[in-house]
Amino acid sequence: MAEPRVATIDGKLAEEFAAPSHVEELKEQMAAFAGLHGAAGRKVVLITSGGTKVPLESRTVRFLDNFSSGRRGASSAEYFLDSGYAVIFLHRHRSLYPYTHTYSGINLLDSLQLQTGGGVSHESSQVVVSQQAFPNIAKILSRYQEVKEAGLLLPIEFSTLSDYLHLLKAAAQALSTIGSKAMFYLAAAVSDFYVPSSEMPEHKIQSSNGPLQITMKMVPKILSPLVKDWAPQAFVISFKLETDSSILIEKARGALDTYRHQAVVANVLDTRRGYVVVVTPETQAELILTEDDVRKEVEIEEKIVSNLTEAHSLFITKHHG
Ligand code: PMT
Repeated sequence: MAEPRVATIDGKLAEEFAAPSHVEELKEQMAAFAGLHGAAGRKVVLITSGGTKVPLESRTVRFLDNFSSGRRGASSAEYFLDSGYAVIFLHRHRSLYPYTHTYSGINLLDSLQLQTGGGVSHESSQVVVSQQAFPNIAKILSRYQEVKEAGLLLPIEFSTLSDYLHLLKAAAQALSTIGSKAMFYLAAAVSDFYVPSSEMPEHKIQSSNGPLQITMKMVPKILSPLVKDWAPQAFVISFKLETDSSILIEKARGALDTYRHQAVVANVLDTRRGYVVVVTPETQAELILTEDDVRKEVEIEEKIVSNLTEAHSLFITKHHG
């Protein structure tokens, strides 16, 4: 008799993807965070953000990566916090981060000034930040400190595909205690292919051996056990990225049919900052940044989060009356 699908994925995770050493500790942190905020009547969103690194050697010199900057996740986190959610931010190490993401292109040293106050020692001098170089810094810093002091943001880092898969599973189990108050917002760009550890060379692949041919296996679709088994009451949003806009909606609908979750945010690589479609089994909403929005520095994530938080409230009412 065939084994149930979840057992297969759990088995695969254990056998072929090394778990980060501190996964149990992080799971406890996430469970405590969810329990605390759930008890305070707050909704909790788990945001995944950034790309994943797929190693080609055990002592990794080379790896495959992807384009994702993590801006979608970082910016969305801020709007969820503004909407009263507590946020677990499961993000790729060194990808963009809430509240600092707007300053990512700035050269820090070019934006600071040294005021020496007449003395010769550097210890007695002051470093002054130019507000021109960091637009809105006072407002953003004040909001960041407010969020931090209220304990509303729990950042968790991953680096490799293996870290991501194990931490997402841990997060799903940790959030299962708050049922429909949990939202999963899966904006990370996860690799679909990997080299199993059993087939990975230990040492650096030698170029003296000639051209490289690699066969990669398919990464198990983690959305399946997440929706069916690990957090079956949660409100789950996946993302669908394509480069060919003509297949985008069909692919998003295909994902909804396969995984039976609540919505897919569909986007095309080149236009993702100004246009997305939120697809649900019954509806399809196009969200667009107008020229006026761009002038006012409105971000598309504000519209995505507004659409989804409203749908989440309806979902909770429908499930718990
Ligand atoms: O980070 P930015 O530069 O701001 O870009 C944002 C973004 C384009 C990365 C984001 O908007 C986005 O589209 N993220 C998802 C990209 C993606 O991986 O799409 P996909 O079609 O390959 O995967 C679809 C969904 O399947 C994902 O939500 C993922 O959670 C899920 N999946 C993927 C692989 C896997 N092994 N298991 C999964 O469950």
